Amino acid sequence: MDYQAVLEEVAAHARPFVRQGRVADYIPALERVSVDRFGMAVADIHGAVYGVGDWEVPFSVQSISKAFSLALVMAQSHGSQGDGDIWKRVGREPSGTPFNSLVQLEAENGIPRNPFINAGALVVTDRLQTLTGDASTSMLHFLREESGNPHLAFDQAVADSEAEHGDRNAALAHFMASFGNLENPVPSVIEHYFWQCSIEMSCRDLAVAGGFLARHGLRADGSRLLEAREAKRINAVMLTCGTYDAAGEFAYRVGLPAKSGVGGGIIAVIPGRCTLCVWSPGLDARGNSVAGAAALDHFTTLTGWSVF
Ligand code: DON
Repeated sequence: MDYQAVLEEVAAHARPFVRQGRVADYIPALERVSVDRFGMAVADIHGAVYGVGDWEVPFSVQSISKAFSLALVMAQSHGSQGDGDIWKRVGREPSGTPFNSLVQLEAENGIPRNPFINAGALVVTDRLQTLTGDASTSMLHFLREESGNPHLAFDQAVADSEAEHGDRNAALAHFMASFGNLENPVPSVIEHYFWQCSIEMSCRDLAVAGGFLARHGLRADGSRLLEAREAKRINAVMLTCGTYDAAGEFAYRVGLPAKSGVGGGIIAVIPGRCTLCVWSPGLDARGNSVAGAAALDHFTTLTGWSVF
């Protein structure tokens, strides 16, 4: 497969979609980014990386961090309570509601539907905080190692902006705490969650760092992060829940496990082959990149590669 030629064609196809979405403004610091950006990268399981457009420009990973925090919790739980432990505190069913919704939590005893809505990610960050003592720094170190980019950093302005406008996430965390579903104090959990979301990475960095999901749990250096069945489970939850209340539509169009963020990035995995990352900040009403989804749709159509 000539990845570079495929990426050029995908980028040309996605261009008209770039201006169709709206840049997220509920976190004011995200608004600075130009809606015109578009980049895409492919990292194959052997370490080769290809890219097009703004593929080396860093952006705010936002909810893409949720896939990495889940992987780190599952990796840290080997041999102790096992990966079953986290699944007592968070489900793995699509929510069908917006990513920051509160409504299901009350009827479902403070147990979020899945780890990729905000409530579920707060529980996972809480667990990572207990396991590591510093949930956000442990994620940053992991991402630096896996991406091979030692310059990855938090974006303080984004983390501060999110904290300033963080009433919804604080409400989710307090509500879950009232059901006994947090181990750490709410202020500490939401602070680490905001830091994780604020990490700046490029399409290249994210495609490379997400390589373990395509390598059935093996890290870039060949060591094992996750058992193959654990990598399979994360990919499965990405497919069913990774793009929120648009996960059904996304599976229908793209047919790959994927995780989106309101910074406009989406990572997608072709197990056994490669990890993709696309970025374009214009979002649809559900918080997913419009041009990003169009690009992934076209990529799987052109290559015939999907999990189906
Ligand atoms: O908590 C929030 O609202 C943001 N830090 C992350 C949301 C997000 O990326 C959802 N994505 N589509």
